Amino acid sequence: MKKYVAEPYRIKVIEPIKETTKEERIELLKIAGYNPFSLKSEDVYIDLLSDSGTGAMSQEQWSQIMLGDEAYAGSRSFYKLESVVKQITGYEYFIPAHQGRGAEHICLKPLVVHEGMYFISNTHFDTTRAHVELAGARALDCVISECYDLGLDYPFKGNVDLVKLEKLIQEKGAKNIAGIIMTITNNSAGGQPVSYENILKASQIAKKHQIKFIIDGARYAENAYFIKQREPGFENHSIREIAYQTFQLADIFLMSAKKDGLVNIGGIVAIKDDKSLYRKCQARVVPYEGFPTYGGMTGRDMEAMAQGLLEGLDERYLRHRTDQIRYLGEMLKEAGIPIQYPVGGHAVFVDCGSIAPHIPYDQFPALSVANALYIEGGVRGVEVGSLLLGRDPDTKRNLQSPVEFLRLTIPRRLYTYEHLKAVGEALIRVFQNREQLKGYKFVYESPILRHFTSTYKPIDR
Ligand code: F0G
Repeated sequence: MKKYVAEPYRIKVIEPIKETTKEERIELLKIAGYNPFSLKSEDVYIDLLSDSGTGAMSQEQWSQIMLGDEAYAGSRSFYKLESVVKQITGYEYFIPAHQGRGAEHICLKPLVVHEGMYFISNTHFDTTRAHVELAGARALDCVISECYDLGLDYPFKGNVDLVKLEKLIQEKGAKNIAGIIMTITNNSAGGQPVSYENILKASQIAKKHQIKFIIDGARYAENAYFIKQREPGFENHSIREIAYQTFQLADIFLMSAKKDGLVNIGGIVAIKDDKSLYRKCQARVVPYEGFPTYGGMTGRDMEAMAQGLLEGLDERYLRHRTDQIRYLGEMLKEAGIPIQYPVGGHAVFVDCGSIAPHIPYDQFPALSVANALYIEGGVRGVEVGSLLLGRDPDTKRNLQSPVEFLRLTIPRRLYTYEHLKAVGEALIRVFQNREQLKGYKFVYESPILRHFTSTYKPIDR
């Protein structure tokens, strides 16, 4: 088998990208308050901030867009999308949302039925955590400890720790657990996959305690691909079969379709068979998102998503997608840069705590590497560490993340291997000068999801 497969598509439309000088980037970053989120995308050469809504659509998706039915109620495009979601999941109910956090907003709150409730997850994504807290509950993470042994070659580092899960349920009391959320792949833990066996066992625990089992499946197709590659017994299953079997283990499927849905905007709430929960979610979608047959999407968006969901399950596409991430990961690893290994499905996660051990966690080592990488190569990555984790909602203390990651997130079908090579070379240069990296302090700290809008300045040593 070839080490890295070539693109299973050719390029029909191009978007030029600008190159800036190092001197310009130093100035641009200063203007952005040293927050990569505040850079203009025009001033970024290769943008690895997120794989969310940043991918390229296919000719089939663009052609379906012309078929969009923009009716306020009962749009034909809704019924097409609903039929695809039902086919993929086997679920009875579907509500569209404008994106993943819209789906979380609609669906998590109705599960919080009294005070003092918790959600338990392998790892909550940051918007999921925010919606859990906004719903008046608390978010507990219990990923397996192998996840934090970054060099350890373990196939499913995204798994939930089943012993800890049981223990937490005993400790807090099953009636106080609003839901168990399986994030597949486990984004914040390095885009790491979760095994079928682990999802099965966690779902059995949920069932035993009569707790709702939720799949946060923004990258469920990438997860199914890893199950096929790495989990004995699934070699001969199609990606679609693996995904379907996975959905059968859960009660609810929440999805940011901006990832494996291969669209620029869109979200899904799908409910297996709980009509009463469906009614509660339906009542919330109207004021917060829109009428239940569009839920914050246009008809054309729903057309693109119906097509994108099917393309996202194509094995040839998934092979190339994961090969691209592996290519960048292996290039960095060979240069001695510490990363979460093996690489996951959507990004390379660089261990900046090890690169800059002289920067304390509350001076954000991964922000420091992200900013240096922008200056060096015009590449934008994102901090996934103590800055993103934020403060304890009760004590307001800065929380310390177990790992200070810089995430280099690869958009779908957007960049070539040569782009990724340029990224690798720039990061290697930053790594060679790592003792010059500086910590950061807040100039303005935003009160919620602070990493998006805060501003900083470097701390001179
Ligand atoms: N769940 C997971 C696992 C996610 O990765 C995201 C978004 C969401 C939910 C929320 O979805 O953005 O459509 O509202 N992740 C993006 C990222 C933002 O860059 O990882 P959304």
